[in-house]
Amino acid sequence: MKEIPKIAIVGTGNVAFHLTHFFIEEGIIPSVFGRNKPTLLAFEKELNVPTNQELSALTLDTLVLLCVSDQAIPEIIDRVPNGVRIAYTSGSTDLRSLPKDRVLGVFYPLQTFSKGVELDAREIPFFIESNDAEFEKELLTLARIISNIVHKASSMDRYHLHLAAVMSNNFVNHLFHLSEKYLQEHQLSFDYLKPLIRETIRKAGFISPSLIQTGPAIRNDHEIIAKHLASLSGSEKEVYAVLTRSIQNTKEKNQDEL
Ligand SMILES: NC(=O)c1ccc[n+]([C@@H]2O[C@H](COP(=O)([O-])OP(=O)(O)OC[C@H]3O[C@@H](n4cnc5c(N)ncnc54)[C@H](OP(=O)(O)O)[C@@H]3O)[C@@H](O)[C@H]2O)c1
Repeated sequence: MKEIPKIAIVGTGNVAFHLTHFFIEEGIIPSVFGRNKPTLLAFEKELNVPTNQELSALTLDTLVLLCVSDQAIPEIIDRVPNGVRIAYTSGSTDLRSLPKDRVLGVFYPLQTFSKGVELDAREIPFFIESNDAEFEKELLTLARIISNIVHKASSMDRYHLHLAAVMSNNFVNHLFHLSEKYLQEHQLSFDYLKPLIRETIRKAGFISPSLIQTGPAIRNDHEIIAKHLASLSGSEKEVYAVLTRSIQNTKEKNQDEL
């Protein structure tokens, strides 16, 4: 097997923190680059890794994993010395939109990362792409060191996966947030919903969600829907109405297909 290259993580946010931790667990100590000195010091203290603020210090024998906000990717690629191999972790950034004269790749983990919330890297799907065949192989090898689920994916497939992930995670989590807020307003604990939330997620693991929708919208229970809408206001009311319509439209579509 080829020797593992030196790894540098650029960025000090959620993904940077977890990737650094995953590599450390496999005995690989990355160096971490960032612009924020206090956060770098926290990385040094918590994860015991070397840190650096100067991207110009990156050397050709280093593989860079760019874990920065999507808008910052082109600017940072520009500041990394020419010839250094760079892979970014963004779901929706198209490789073809970035400079063609650089060796670039994608190291996209399809998971939600929050600092301080532990994750098992082995269960995270990684999607890999590169504009250079050798670099792509290197990224596949690297991903397989930390995860059991590693695939190649085009920018378009990765984009579709990311968009679906936004609906499945970001939107669903937002609905949990709205539910928590609504219950708090009525002096009730969000804990009462947790068995229901666990069961919803468990069922999605083995049955198509299209087959197990329940509730007033799918039953076309107009009276209950009207009552619920009257109890809500502002964006919560809009969200309830939009999702109710969406569920009902799906039902109509399914019936049309029968
Ligand atoms: N979080 C997730 O669940 C998740 C999952 C899969 C993929 N991703 C992708 O992974 C990447 C990082 O996401 P994240 O959640 O880790 O973001 P994050 O927690 O918001 O961290 C973003 C990092 O980018 C740095 N940054 C932003 N603009 C910069 C600039 N102009 N120059 C230098 N550094 C800059 C920030 O530095 P400062 O702290 O100094 O501002 C911070 O270290 C994104 O492409 C995201 O789409 C995220």
